[in-house]
Amino acid sequence: MLKIGNITLDIPFFQAPLSGYTDHAMRKLAREMGCPLTFTGVLLDKIAVHPKAVKKLKFQPGLDEHPVGAQILGADSDTMARAAAGFENIGYDLIDLNFACPVPKVLRRRRGGFMLNEPRVAIEIFRKVREAVKCPVTVKIRICFGKNDGTVDNFWQICEGLSNEGVDAITIHGRAVKEMYRGKADWEIVKQAKKNFPKTVIIGSGDILDAESAIDRYESNGIDGVVIARGAIGNPWIFSEVRALFEKKKMPTKPTLQEQGLVMLRHFEMLAKMKTQSKTVPYFRKFSAKYCKRHPERKKVLMALLGAKTRRGFHDVIKQWYGVGIDQITEESIVINLPD
Ligand SMILES: Cc1cc2nc3c(=O)[nH]c(=O)nc-3n(C[C@H](O)[C@H](O)[C@H](O)COP(=O)(O)O)c2cc1C
Repeated sequence: MLKIGNITLDIPFFQAPLSGYTDHAMRKLAREMGCPLTFTGVLLDKIAVHPKAVKKLKFQPGLDEHPVGAQILGADSDTMARAAAGFENIGYDLIDLNFACPVPKVLRRRRGGFMLNEPRVAIEIFRKVREAVKCPVTVKIRICFGKNDGTVDNFWQICEGLSNEGVDAITIHGRAVKEMYRGKADWEIVKQAKKNFPKTVIIGSGDILDAESAIDRYESNGIDGVVIARGAIGNPWIFSEVRALFEKKKMPTKPTLQEQGLVMLRHFEMLAKMKTQSKTVPYFRKFSAKYCKRHPERKKVLMALLGAKTRRGFHDVIKQWYGVGIDQITEESIVINLPD
């Protein structure tokens, strides 16, 4: 069991925020497969301070997807505090502060991973957000700005400041901001963070591409939890696998081609409820590229999926390669249950 503030998770593994991926559809599938907590992709604080913007359906948490966290990004503590309150108001159960994003345009605006250069600003943002909401507040951070530029001291300073201020959890992605997603994540520093701050909930992130590595990282580092990021794209089954391993139950059998096809159809159709066809078809390609990894004819299936130009075309490819049709999914299974 893992406690993050007033939220109790029955397993210490959950879905990481993934910008451009962890929308309602991906979150719903993760939850169905046993994931106990999911997050939005990162949301700019400025969005949330406009009451009309935050009312847009794409920002609203689904009625049946609790607990779900909103992750916010910004450089100004007052705007971040207002954003956090805005997201709490529309129903998010947890606010996660992004001090990790490595995208150059984000860094230029002194947001995200830039916080590793500005520990005082980072802690001030946390403090203001903490005051503005009642729900748990967590932080996602990387281990330094650049390797050997001295900012690892800032990392420790931020961890200490956050721990003293009563952060509900810190998720540490074991890479430097400047490393983006290159190289291997450094888990030694994640382990050390738990040793240095034993009372703080420490969650690890980095290179968790299968259920076995999630369990291994959790057990060998003495940390409180592990998030699954890229390993869950096109692979919601990872959550049922990690749950089975953790609970020492029989591993679920690998999904058959038909089961894979049905999940892909449902994922696609849930997105189609929120977006137009012209947007859903290209948007789904990045998921297709991952889903088809399980198919024995991966290359051919990928070409066919990428070649589908319409919703109907996508359905036809699934029928041809996975042997299931759109008539086999129910309306109920693709409902995104949003507030009125
Ligand atoms: C496409 C993509 C989008 C991401 N978006 C976010 C995000 O919105 N917020 C965040 O904190 N981390 C984000 N991350 C980082 C992941 O949450 C995770 O920390 C990182 O990918 C390391 O884990 P992994 O190696 O297991 O994928 C993103 C990563 C990728 C690859």
